[in-house]
Amino acid sequence: MKKIGLFWGSTSGNTEIAVEFMEEYLQDEGFEVESFNIADIDVDKMIEFDNIIISCPTWNIGELQDDWDSIFLDYEKLDFSGKIGAFFGCGDQVGYPDNFIDAVGMLAKPFMKNGGKLIGRCSTDDYDFRDSVALDDDKLLGLGLDYDNEEDECEGQMIMWLEDIMEDFI
Ligand SMILES: Cc1cc2nc3c(=O)[nH]c(=O)nc-3n(C[C@H](O)[C@H](O)[C@H](O)COP(=O)(O)O)c2cc1C
Repeated sequence: MKKIGLFWGSTSGNTEIAVEFMEEYLQDEGFEVESFNIADIDVDKMIEFDNIIISCPTWNIGELQDDWDSIFLDYEKLDFSGKIGAFFGCGDQVGYPDNFIDAVGMLAKPFMKNGGKLIGRCSTDDYDFRDSVALDDDKLLGLGLDYDNEEDECEGQMIMWLEDIMEDFI
């Protein structure tokens, strides 16, 4: 059975809702999923998994969520060689159109720089924002979930994204 480590942080609970949905979906698809609130663990835990899903909402205009912010200096030193990683983040494209899901880019970039293989890039077609640190060429480095403005769409977006990335896990 393929095993995935899901690492997340959440301040107002939206990411937690998404994480619970994804965990159940992946388990139904036959994956073993271990989920960790980043506030409760040592960041080295990530290195125990070959397949990693990372989720961080963007807070305070282009910043990491507080619990991710606290461990970021250790996170960016991790060696991700041989790891497969997918990123998603909650954000608000209407309220923060110049910083939509910045945190996804802030975490995905060190992952790639330190040897990780990134999967789960997304088209920008579903969204309406001006700028994001998560933009790379014309794609987003991970999935954006806008519970503030498009809650009805989040579940469908998660299913499409998971179906897209599932086969890339090792
Ligand atoms: C003060 C404040 C600042 C925010 N800054 C951003 C931002 O820069 N970019 C963005 O995409 N979303 C931003 N958001 C929206 C949150 O990311 C969004 O509400 C998200 O769903 C929160 O996730 P959580 O409930 O898991 O903490 C901000 C929200 C607040 C209240």
